[in-house]
Amino acid sequence: MNKKRGSFSSRLGFVLAAAGSAVGLGNLWRFPYLAAKYGGGTFLVIYLILAVTFGYTLMTAEITLGRKTRLSAVGAYGKLDKRFNFIGLLTCLVPIIIVPYYGVVGGWILKYFGVFILEGAETAAADDYFTNFITNPWQPFVLMLVFLTITAVIVSFGVKQGVENASRFMMPVLVVLSVVIAVYSCTRSGAWEGVKYYITPHLSDVSVNTLLGALGQLFYSMSLAMGIMITYGSYMMDDNDIENSVKQIEIFDTGIAFLAGLMIIPAVFAFSGGDSGALNAGAGLMFVTMPKVFASMSFGSLIGAVFFLLVIFAALTSNISLFETVVSILCDEFHISRKLSCVITYIICVVLGLLSALGYGVLSGIAPLGMSFLDFFDFISNSVLMPIVAVLTCIFLGWVVDTNIITDEVKKNSTFGREGMFRIMLKWIAPIFLVAILVSSVLNALGIISI
Ligand code: PHE
Repeated sequence: MNKKRGSFSSRLGFVLAAAGSAVGLGNLWRFPYLAAKYGGGTFLVIYLILAVTFGYTLMTAEITLGRKTRLSAVGAYGKLDKRFNFIGLLTCLVPIIIVPYYGVVGGWILKYFGVFILEGAETAAADDYFTNFITNPWQPFVLMLVFLTITAVIVSFGVKQGVENASRFMMPVLVVLSVVIAVYSCTRSGAWEGVKYYITPHLSDVSVNTLLGALGQLFYSMSLAMGIMITYGSYMMDDNDIENSVKQIEIFDTGIAFLAGLMIIPAVFAFSGGDSGALNAGAGLMFVTMPKVFASMSFGSLIGAVFFLLVIFAALTSNISLFETVVSILCDEFHISRKLSCVITYIICVVLGLLSALGYGVLSGIAPLGMSFLDFFDFISNSVLMPIVAVLTCIFLGWVVDTNIITDEVKKNSTFGREGMFRIMLKWIAPIFLVAILVSSVLNALGIISI
């Protein structure tokens, strides 16, 4: 192994860092409202089945590709076959596009944490509070800088000292806070109806869209197709068991998503008198509806502050993984130091982040494809580039190179019980699913279908 390349100190360190990447805003904010929208219990079951098949396959493939080549995404593909270097180049675009706008949302979360601590739930719950904040000419940008600076400082300490230690601290705290809030939320009066709504299957709400919604969510939630798992895999020690690690990351990711549903859905039900429509508020769910829900609770300011602290941890560990991925690409490709890579990544983030941070305010006149900058970057990365990268990865590992290269690497330290399924998923089923995600999300964005 390249002596200068960092590595995680143990399998637990690796699992916590990868789970830190996977558990993010997707789990805490997007999963609950998708579950509520697409049939409650049925969505949960479909999601679980997809997680242990589709998600498992893609995550195993990426981590193994990283560990086998000991390179970040941009070099990893080319190392196995030079002609396919371009997949690596395409992959590395994804985190570069995502990290600046993830930082903007990170800044929003810092703001809400601060408001709950300093001024209380009533202030955050006021009408127009969110709109006034995101259209402010400078505040979103400054808070984004704070969030990005914290991320950059942690990453500059390196894989073990920075990324791993931050996850070792934040992930256990996140689990405890999630359980505390979920219990508090489920025990409010009127909340039980929400719990029932969340876990009962509603067959009439199930459609092809449920499957596509679950697939898209899974893909994003597990931080796939953006080079993150390749990078983290490249820091994994040779004697660690890949199969078990993937299993644990999945349990973490799905567990927190499930708990997020228990935090949010019952509380919204209790607040809105059983109206599930309130869950359908998109970004407004976390920043508009939840503050109102907290303001209506006893100890609302405290619970709200704890909730946003939890969200900060989740978003920070995800942002660290994105930032680290860009840094490691720069280190690998240009042979520059980690510190210099951090500085360059930071500058890219600030410049691109500026567009997203001010896209609702002073820059709102500019609307690429009719979207705000933040939505535009989100669309290009999540709906277009990521499915393309994932399909290419499946074709590359399933058809172009000898798949045994991957399976043998997994089998170094594990029995690889799911090998048969892995091969079938990688070659046949995952590519079909991914093309379906790509086509449906593009048609959805163009307004041709609605999912
Ligand atoms: N997996 C993260 C989540 O569920 C999202 C994420 C996206 C993380 C991009 C890192 C990079 O929110």
